[in-house]
Amino acid sequence: MTYRKPTFHPANPASYRNRLREDASADYLIRLLWDALDYSAYGYGLYHAADLARRLQIPAISAIEFGVAGGNGLLALERHAAAIEAETGVRIEVWGFDTGTGMPPPQGWRDMPYRFREGNYCMDVDKLRARLTRAQLVLGDVAQTVQDFLTGQTPAPIGFVAFDLDYHSATLQALGLFEGDHAAFLPRCQLYFDNVIGYELSSYNRFVGELAAIEDFNAAHDDMKIAPSMALHRFVIARRWYHQIYLLHRFAHPAYATYVSGAGPQSLALKTDEAE
Ligand SMILES: C[S@@+](CC[C@H](N)C(=O)[O-])C[C@H]1O[C@@H](n2cnc3c(N)ncnc32)[C@H](O)[C@@H]1O
Repeated sequence: MTYRKPTFHPANPASYRNRLREDASADYLIRLLWDALDYSAYGYGLYHAADLARRLQIPAISAIEFGVAGGNGLLALERHAAAIEAETGVRIEVWGFDTGTGMPPPQGWRDMPYRFREGNYCMDVDKLRARLTRAQLVLGDVAQTVQDFLTGQTPAPIGFVAFDLDYHSATLQALGLFEGDHAAFLPRCQLYFDNVIGYELSSYNRFVGELAAIEDFNAAHDDMKIAPSMALHRFVIARRWYHQIYLLHRFAHPAYATYVSGAGPQSLALKTDEAE
């Protein structure tokens, strides 16, 4: 069975997606786009980070999850890394950042104490470590661990980052990672933000939480901006996570202008006139 990207509208999208869930032989990217794998958003971001690395002839990249809780997302990120590594030939390191003890206290109204509170989302560190196959856990408050990370470790260039720390304060501290040297990053990094779309009780908006952290980051940096990905607008059926993919643009990165498109001089050439 040949499956198509969501530019195609099947008569019954739900059963089309269910078939893709079952069919392990189907194209990986198409399964991701139809949300037919766990944490498809992570796979999508990582896939396109690896694709950019391959085009720039960068042999290895890092993928990070900020906010791990029990570890379901980090384990899914590991599975995506294995599949995407096999498909693209780009080696992938996986990192997970968390306190290891659940949510710290909120630091004011921007942290949305009506929605998030201290002590939620605990981790069983030993149990998770026993399940991990490639991810490295970085435990502690991101206010400290992010600062130590780029100096203390030598990660492969960072290409994909998932933000799921819930609070404005923690997200802004995690975004401080991007202040590292260009060599530690791809020129454009795929980002996923978990808390930018949600139910009425969450009431996410640009003055609190992750959306406010993105605005604060952009206001503070002239040569780096975080912007929503426009790539997913081309599909007729939108999955929820299509609204959660952003890109970090590092305009001053030495490879930001490197040509990666497939278009050449003969692209868009005048078509042959039937009458000629
Ligand atoms: C919603 S949970 C993450 C869920 C996980 N991504 C998943 O998909 O299952 C949010 C996590 O952020 C972590 N967190 C919040 N503030 C933090 C901080 N300042 N430093 C480190 N971790 C923090 C909490 O410990 C919690 O485990």
